[in-house]
Amino acid sequence: MKNVEHPTIYRKDYRVPPFIVESISLIFQLQDDHTDVFATTRFRKNPDAGEEGDQLFLNGEDLELLWIRCNSDELAANMYQVNEKGLSLTAPGDSFTLEIATRIRPDANTLLEGLYRSNGNYCTQCEAEGFRKITYYIDRPDILAPFTTRIEGNKSNCPVMLSNGNKVDEGELEDGRHYAVWHDPFPKPSYLFALVAGDLRYIEDFFTTKSGRNICLRIYVEERNITKCDHAMLSLKKAMRWDEEVYGLEYDLDIFMIVAVDDFNMGAMENKGLNVFNSKYVLALPETATDNDYLGIEGVVAHEYFHNWTGNRVTCRDWFQLSLKEGLTVFRDQEFSADMNSRPVQRIDDVRILRTGQFREDSGPMAHPVRPDSYVEINNFYTSTVYNKGAEVIRMMHTLLGAEGFRKGMDLYFARHDGQAVTCDDFVASMADANDYDLDQFTRWYSQSGTPVIEVSEHFDSEKEEYSLNLKQSCPPTPGQPEKKPFHLPVAIGLLDQDGKDIRITDDDTLVLELKEAEETFVFYGIEQKPVVSFLRNFSAPVRVKPFQSQEELAFLMAHDSDLYNRCEAAFQLAEQVIFAALEALQAGGQPVLDDQYLTAVSANISGGQNDKALLGQALQLPSETYLAGQMTVIDPDNLHAARNFVKRELAGRLIDKFTALYLENDEAEYQLTPEAMGKRSLKNIALDYLMAIDAPPQEIIDRCLAQYETAKNMTDVVSALQIIANSELDVREEILGDFYELWRNDPLVMDKWLIIQATSKRQDTLDEVKRLMSHPVFSMKNPNKVRSLVGAFCAMNHVRFHDHKGLGYAFLADRIIELNTINPQIGARMVSPFTTWKKYDGERQHMMRDQLERIVNTENLSGDIFEIVKKSL
Ligand code: PHE
Ligand code: ZN
Repeated sequence: MKNVEHPTIYRKDYRVPPFIVESISLIFQLQDDHTDVFATTRFRKNPDAGEEGDQLFLNGEDLELLWIRCNSDELAANMYQVNEKGLSLTAPGDSFTLEIATRIRPDANTLLEGLYRSNGNYCTQCEAEGFRKITYYIDRPDILAPFTTRIEGNKSNCPVMLSNGNKVDEGELEDGRHYAVWHDPFPKPSYLFALVAGDLRYIEDFFTTKSGRNICLRIYVEERNITKCDHAMLSLKKAMRWDEEVYGLEYDLDIFMIVAVDDFNMGAMENKGLNVFNSKYVLALPETATDNDYLGIEGVVAHEYFHNWTGNRVTCRDWFQLSLKEGLTVFRDQEFSADMNSRPVQRIDDVRILRTGQFREDSGPMAHPVRPDSYVEINNFYTSTVYNKGAEVIRMMHTLLGAEGFRKGMDLYFARHDGQAVTCDDFVASMADANDYDLDQFTRWYSQSGTPVIEVSEHFDSEKEEYSLNLKQSCPPTPGQPEKKPFHLPVAIGLLDQDGKDIRITDDDTLVLELKEAEETFVFYGIEQKPVVSFLRNFSAPVRVKPFQSQEELAFLMAHDSDLYNRCEAAFQLAEQVIFAALEALQAGGQPVLDDQYLTAVSANISGGQNDKALLGQALQLPSETYLAGQMTVIDPDNLHAARNFVKRELAGRLIDKFTALYLENDEAEYQLTPEAMGKRSLKNIALDYLMAIDAPPQEIIDRCLAQYETAKNMTDVVSALQIIANSELDVREEILGDFYELWRNDPLVMDKWLIIQATSKRQDTLDEVKRLMSHPVFSMKNPNKVRSLVGAFCAMNHVRFHDHKGLGYAFLADRIIELNTINPQIGARMVSPFTTWKKYDGERQHMMRDQLERIVNTENLSGDIFEIVKKSL
């Protein structure tokens, strides 16, 4: 590391701000090659700050300061100090006004933070610390102020000019220019500020709130996308209704706007009244978007909308509290999606994301608590731990308190904290106080990192008719936390009798045990025969359970469990066992064989008349190589790939009739977007994927796959077929990929799919193809979606090819990270992820990955973003 310092920020160092902001008013003059920003801010000494002195520090980075005035007098250069982090001056009294003029260059902004341009249109991204790239300000989330924003621009390229709140004025200026003034009456932190200006169109709709207020809803997009917004609008209205029904929460401004842009670092952003979205989470038509895209849009639109209360009305005191808004809002969007679609399928998807991404993070060098204690670069803490594990922590409170108790806690939280910037502890206190429930031990979920492990042992005494469950919990050491205290965790269980029926062990079929000690035994009386336990129903806590059930028991649960989540879970565990058995055989140099019992269980599952098609589809899906790798002590990418393929190929070959029937039964002529129809499509496409995995598949299967590619009218079916074809050695492969490109070359989101499909192909030559695609006209290192679709997909989703023993994948990724260091370090830092688990591979691979990490860390002017992750990994 050269030239730059990267200090660590600690949670324990939090101090209340010495000054607060009463109001801020901004003027943006958008010019062709720069923008001038005039900020008028009223400051007051914070009465809660004590004797902090009268030094005021304003954050500001990459700004050109034009002038500064205090109480209307221009400040001479010796009255203030400026460095690359900000501006400091001595306050002239307890209350004063600063006017600051800065010049910024949105055209040159490739970081996509602050004010930048996407396809010529202006937009902002201020979370977490982007506002300081617009003007000098106290850029921290506990400074809340009402904003007034005036935008001036050319009528020709900026006919639309938007900001937070309500439009209060607009008019003409000279030279073909015009202005608009927006006022947001709700005091907000600077990270929720937004400005959008450009040549945009909108669709409009209305929503009547439960108290009868009429809200105008608009979605702004480029003209070419105007037909693709209906699903997002529908999702928004559903989310607004749901939040009223489930939480009693009503929208507060008169207008709610969404803007879609192609260049965006994340999924979307909840700016007050003016959400800015990655176009991936807005635009959809059946012919361009898959069922997953549709679900993603519904979930993300809801997520950002829900932030209006959980995030905006009540916000975070400091960035260590990020999960206060993100964990809670993810939980809310998961529940919303579960209510709109299939609840068990939603849960399976959410748990899969947690176990693949978060468990991995929690067992590596970046492991951190849901409420971190320190960071170098806050952008690196928008993690699966803060979001997904954070949501699990909220869910556990929901499980412990029940839906009604949870609602009482939410009501108290808003009653106490509306309009404030608060902490995770404040949230837990509201839950505890509203229910008179002790959550003290529970708060360890916020402070301890690492994934707890539960060991289960069962004992059945037929004479006494007693069944007992002995549970032990432990948590492996993580960086900075060698030892852990026991967690308070809800363990939901059911007991199945020999017919697979639930034994009533409580008023309900499911019982929630509360495990609080390192070891506890729970005894059940009056149990006549040895039951089969359905353990951790609905995944009631984010833990690993040491496998303790036999294949027979798992097959039994897979067929009978009344908890649909656990039915699938049993299927996954069984598949995992079978794949690892094959892996062992391969590693020992032998031939794997597919267990008959497993075959019978899968076959029975297919014939079981499962009426939730999506659920059956889920149960049939084998765990991914990335997930399986996370379960291994020394990862062996080649044999893992071969073992999983073996199981897939064998299953397909031996159940060919069943998979063919599944395909035909679920092939619907008519396209619908209902959960049932989506379930059928997914099942059909999984069947096709199995069938094409057969060694030298019969010609009629190949024909079916090609026909599906050619005739399907919806993108789900088209890409499912295309993905299989791209993975194959079929002669028509190139031609079909070329055909798809010609058809969709003008649709960036479809081109992302085209890149992902090629980057994740398991063919030997994929890395070469990825390198070729780097110089293809549709690719750009400046567009995060493209980087994720090509570089990210290859390195994070193509386990076997990225980890090729020659190490060329490693060198490729390091090159890209170094390149991104100067273009967009935030995205660069995210790309480091596949390297972070390097210690879990064999010696040779470890060596090669470490060399690349060192090459990165020695890069000149390395950003704090990339530095932090690489340094912690080494
Ligand atoms: N706050 C956004 C969300 O979760 C995510 C985000 C973070 C977007 C930082 C941009 C920058 O909804
Ligand atoms: Zn969020």
